[in-house]
Amino acid sequence: MVIDGATVEAEPRAGQCLRTFLREHGCFGVKKGCDAGDCGACTVHVDGIPVHSCIYPAFRARTRSVTTIHGLAAGELQRRFVEAQGFQCGFCTPGMIMTAAALTDAQRADLPRALKGNLCRCTGYRSIAAAIRGAATPEAEAESDAIGRSVLAPAGPAIVTGRAEFTLDTAPAGLLHMKLVRSPHAHAVIRRIDASAALAVPGVELVLTHTDAPAELYSTARHEHETDDPADTVLLDRVVRFTGQRVAAVVADSVATAERAAELVVVEYDLLPAVTDPQAAIADGAPRLHADKPPTARIADARTNIAASVESHLGGVAEGFAEADAVYEETFEIHRVQHVHLETHASIAWIDPDGRLVVRTSSQTPFLTRDALCRVLNLPRERVRVFTGRVGGGFGGKQEMLTEDVVALAALRTGRPVQIEFTREEEFFGATSRHPMRVRVKLGGRRSGRLTAISVGIVANTGAYGNHAPGVLFHACGESISLYRCANKKVDGVSVYTNTMPAGAFRGYGLSQLVFAVDSALDELARRLDLEPVAFRRANMIGPDDALTSIEGAPADVELGSYGLPECLDLVESGLRSGRGDPPPGDQWLIGEGIGISMLDTTPPGGHRAHARIAERAGGGYVLHVGTAEFGNGTTTVHTQFAASALGTTADQIAVVQADTDGVDYDTGAFGSTGTVVAGGATLQAAGRLREMIDARGGRGGPLLSAEGTSDGLRRSVAFNVQGFRVAVLPRTGEIRILQSVHAADAGTVVNPLQCRAQVEGGVAQALGAALSEHLDIDGTGRVTTRTLREYHIPAFADVPVTEVHFARTSDAIGPAGAKPMSESPVNPVAPALANAVRDATGVRFTRLPLTRDVVYLALAGRAAADAG
Ligand code: FES
Repeated sequence: MVIDGATVEAEPRAGQCLRTFLREHGCFGVKKGCDAGDCGACTVHVDGIPVHSCIYPAFRARTRSVTTIHGLAAGELQRRFVEAQGFQCGFCTPGMIMTAAALTDAQRADLPRALKGNLCRCTGYRSIAAAIRGAATPEAEAESDAIGRSVLAPAGPAIVTGRAEFTLDTAPAGLLHMKLVRSPHAHAVIRRIDASAALAVPGVELVLTHTDAPAELYSTARHEHETDDPADTVLLDRVVRFTGQRVAAVVADSVATAERAAELVVVEYDLLPAVTDPQAAIADGAPRLHADKPPTARIADARTNIAASVESHLGGVAEGFAEADAVYEETFEIHRVQHVHLETHASIAWIDPDGRLVVRTSSQTPFLTRDALCRVLNLPRERVRVFTGRVGGGFGGKQEMLTEDVVALAALRTGRPVQIEFTREEEFFGATSRHPMRVRVKLGGRRSGRLTAISVGIVANTGAYGNHAPGVLFHACGESISLYRCANKKVDGVSVYTNTMPAGAFRGYGLSQLVFAVDSALDELARRLDLEPVAFRRANMIGPDDALTSIEGAPADVELGSYGLPECLDLVESGLRSGRGDPPPGDQWLIGEGIGISMLDTTPPGGHRAHARIAERAGGGYVLHVGTAEFGNGTTTVHTQFAASALGTTADQIAVVQADTDGVDYDTGAFGSTGTVVAGGATLQAAGRLREMIDARGGRGGPLLSAEGTSDGLRRSVAFNVQGFRVAVLPRTGEIRILQSVHAADAGTVVNPLQCRAQVEGGVAQALGAALSEHLDIDGTGRVTTRTLREYHIPAFADVPVTEVHFARTSDAIGPAGAKPMSESPVNPVAPALANAVRDATGVRFTRLPLTRDVVYLALAGRAAADAG
């Protein structure tokens, strides 16, 4: 086979796909996002024709010429991807470029069709289209490093040539591979495991079971404060609580051998009764999932399967409803969706020459993962190093420890490097998801336009384990309720254990669910009061002089460091007034408009710490060490801008070394939208101090200088997002067409407009997927039945409308250089804006997601039948 111009003499194994063959021969630019030909991350050319190499048999490429991203002549296309920022995490980019490089002019004119085999989870495709079409963006032409300019991502050249190293784009000598044996039952006790047949397979080195696992209880969730989550998990448990839970780990000299041996591990179970519905799980007589846990496990009430609960009130809602001119009450069902970062969960662990445990992992939290490994494996901090390569997307899904503990244990036992990589199928049933929620909302209001009462009841399904259960529940009913000024508020909620896959952190952290329910209800209440919905929101949302409070009215540890919410509403309303986008001709389309609004605290409560160090480099320039990981959120670019701005230089003079526990003292991690605000704050402080030292030195020579900075994230502000849609709905098919999508964000000082716009576009695209098509199906036994990207359906190019993105002109008094975060919050107002627009068009209030064609068709047909009857 000729690979990238060089002849390779090797025989593919029987059944081996071309992608695996290429990666085994060092072509790490060929990515693995699925095994089904769905995502296109593995696209290569065979004799000049683009193919999905994960479903292309390697033997068919014998005697042919294979070109990967490494062999593609670097040129105009790659340059345009860099300049248009046609990537975020960059995991899809090599495959995307390989497809784009083979397009004819006619295909390039029809990108929705031409790119149907290449998925991107991060960008929303607009910047990819700009790169392929060669459309220059005004921002991309800017060369200044000043804050507020679209400086290009430092990793761009490596991303577009396939040289950026993601977690598994390395192969240490003697590498072993791990495959997990997973439970086929939703609830059971392991009676016996016999691994003798697996151990007898040539090449198998180790089989780990619950008898090998430390007894330490922990949570897979990673937080600054370990006590935030219930300690209800052990590394390998004798009790299985969901179908897909890991039961044993087989370690062998190849993936194929580990897979074959995993099938030979005999596990005998004693089945236990299972419960998959959270309402049933809190009923009397339901099976208890964690009755075996001690009181120190921090479970709210293990006797009733309640992992976490919240209850608070302000004023009296009964009085508030009594004085209302209209009351609206409804239950909203928000479904289970998944992150679908294209790089699946993966890590490699080894023992370095000094005997230290080293873990290279796809994680948003290397420092917190190190600390958890130390606790679980009883190792001192200085004996463990955790770091990341480039991380291929996270969206909260990598704020968990799902792989690192088990490969670390295997590396300690074997003394050899051990690697694990979840398949796409394992992601769907063995990782985590957004918390499904049932939300009862009751709102009362006066015709004068005043909200008189808000009452919200939540039943969240945390699945088999309580990772993030308390945090998501509290956060869900935080900003969604405190956004509105109302004298009478009441919230009660529970997060409930069930025998289903665990839920976890997901972009928005509970707000996407609650904002859908509350903002939909608010829209409906306004209609009942004969008030215009946007004016009703304006009348009741917090104002610039309002103190932010907890629901009980106590002062909150959040301040209005800036306030751009009315401007965001103005921008979206005026955008929609332009009426851009017509319905297709020749059919009876119903047209409607809707808006959703949301607020997000700029950092999590209770502190979020970061440390940065910056030093002069011999030969010129600076090297910046930060702890936070880059997974497509763009913080690396922002950090170079902060440092360059403080040092009075250009961003290309700042080299960044990141996400390594050996690099800086500490960093809580890249979650909760903290990369710009917290790690950025530490960077700005370190660079400012270095500048002072350089100025003090004057023209005198001397040793190279360095300085440090820290940030604790304790002062918190809020960011705002407003989404508007104009839609057309076709009753005879149930189709929803988005005619216009407008988003306005109050991000404070927009440090990098091109990047920030793309974060919003990507967030809107991801939220549209959840609102329109994505759904992780679980059957009555608790088994996940959605197993491929094709069934799950994240948005492809053709599914994503262009979103007009606007920014309020604010500068935050708290955020570094006036900035506020904008990586997480754009998702939150999307679903209610869409549902409100569909309501406006059809008169039907949808209370469940996703709004698939069949759901919309049946609802409209049902209403038509009722009207006729
Ligand atoms: Fe496309 Fe992340 S940039 S998947």
